[in-house]
Order: sequence, then structure tokens, then C-alpha cells
Amino acid sequence: MLHVLSIDDLTNDFLYSLWQEAMSNKGTGNNKLKGKILTNLFYEPSTRTSSSFYSAMTRSGGAVIPINSVQFSSVAKGESLEDTIITMSTMSDVIVMRHTDNGSARRASLVSRVPVINAGDGDGEHPTQTILDGFTIYYHNNKKLSNLKVTMVGDLKNGRTVKSLVKLLGRFENNHFNFVSPEHLKFSNPFPENYYETQDVNEVLQDTDVLYVTRVQKERGSLYDYSLTMNQLNLIPKRSIVMHPFPRTNEIPVEFDKDSRAKYFDQIQFGVWCRQILLERVLS
Ligand code: NCD
Repeated sequence: MLHVLSIDDLTNDFLYSLWQEAMSNKGTGNNKLKGKILTNLFYEPSTRTSSSFYSAMTRSGGAVIPINSVQFSSVAKGESLEDTIITMSTMSDVIVMRHTDNGSARRASLVSRVPVINAGDGDGEHPTQTILDGFTIYYHNNKKLSNLKVTMVGDLKNGRTVKSLVKLLGRFENNHFNFVSPEHLKFSNPFPENYYETQDVNEVLQDTDVLYVTRVQKERGSLYDYSLTMNQLNLIPKRSIVMHPFPRTNEIPVEFDKDSRAKYFDQIQFGVWCRQILLERVLS
């Protein structure tokens, strides 16, 4: 049984073959998961991730039990995570879970009778976001994830998408990371091999292949406001790409959306393509 709790659970070979299939399938419908049921169990707000799993599962002919507001489930009556997971694993073939606590997906996997996919556990990890983030780089960088200067900006302390993506890109050769954040939102362990830390994004923008912009996680107690200006964004080289896991608040001006370097809407689309293949593999 393959649980997807951390990006560490997936090898580069597994990911390359998933991306290859996602690239050729492009979200096309089929009946591979006919008769299979996915539970979407979300203890934290979500627009993209939960809908992306819904879209992916139904594109492959499967069905979804949507528990997107746990306040209307037995969680509100005080049911434990374990009991909820055992219950839903008797009714479905895979559980996609987002939760407020780091480590909660692992806890769920210990009692679940079906595969658990971590859709974000507190300030822990978000491996399926990393699958689509990795695919976005693969897609726009000639299928390569090496020799990159990656600049990550924002709440690097609490952003789980950053943590999983650094783990993934850290596996490939000759990647260099620039971590840009204020002192209290700095990236923490595990550090990749090559990195540089600064509070001034202007220092590194010209030397960036992938700019990964993130939101400040107010719900995790982070306080800070920042926005990149059009002038700053125009400093990054023409061949570079700008990514953001979304939702955005003020980090990237809407004006930049029509720039060919802006790839954040591609990411959302690629999420469906990749999750569809992931579900087919986890359920096969
Ligand atoms: C991210 C998350 O939930 O970690 N959202 C997402 O899944 N695309 C990023 C965020 O909330 O800032």
C-alpha cells in the first residue's frame, strides 16, 4: 500500500514516469478508476487542492466523498482523527487529507485500511503540490530539474510547499537556492547543500531561473506583508519562470499575469494532470 505522506516517499524514477504520463495524457478522461471512491477529508480551507483531486478522480471515472468542511462532520462532535480515518477507510479506496497538525497524515496512515495522501499537514509537507511544482519545472525546462538557481520568497518558515519542494530539488545536481525572507520567517532544516539567505530580494532576482513566491501563513501566526513590484519582477531573466502555489494575497501584482514568465495558472492545470496519474498508480 503506497501512502504519500512526504515527497521522500516518491523516488525520482516514480516521479519521472508519472510526469511523462501526465505530459502525454494531459487530463484526458478514462475509466481506469471506475468503481473506486476517494474521500476528500479537509480540516483546513482549500480551493485548488480539494477540487483538483475531485477533478482528477472523476476524470478517471471514479467518485468522491467530499468532506470539505469538517465542522459539519462528526469532528464537530469530538471524534478523534483515528476514528474518522478508520471510518472513511471502510467506505473508500483512498483518503486525501489536509490537517492543521504537522505529522497528522502519518498518524492517519497508521490506522487507515487504504492509502493516505497528504494534502498538507500543518507546517509539515505538501507532497502533491511538489509533484505539480516539479512537473511545472520539468515542463518548462526541457524535462530537467538540475542546474537551477531557485529563489524562494515569503514565509519560508511555515510554508509546507516550500519544504517539500526544497527536498525534491535538493535531490538533483547542481541546484542552488536563494532563500529570501525576514528573520522571523526564515527557512529551517533540513537545508539543501547549496543555499544563500538574504532579506533583500533585489540582490538575487537577476540570478534566478525559478522564482517561487509564497503567501505569508497568517493562520500559523506569521505576521509580515510584502508585494513584489512589476519593476522587481522584470529584473528576472526572460527565460526564467515565476511560480506560486496560490492562493496569493498581494505577493504578485495581477498585472504580471499576462507575462510569459508567469506560470502559476499552469501549475493549477498541471495539478489535475499529475494527480490523475498519481491516483491511478496509488489505486492500481
Ligand atoms: C498551499 C497550502 O495549502 O499549503 N496551497 C495549495 O495547496 N496550493 C499554499 C498556501 O496555502 O499558501
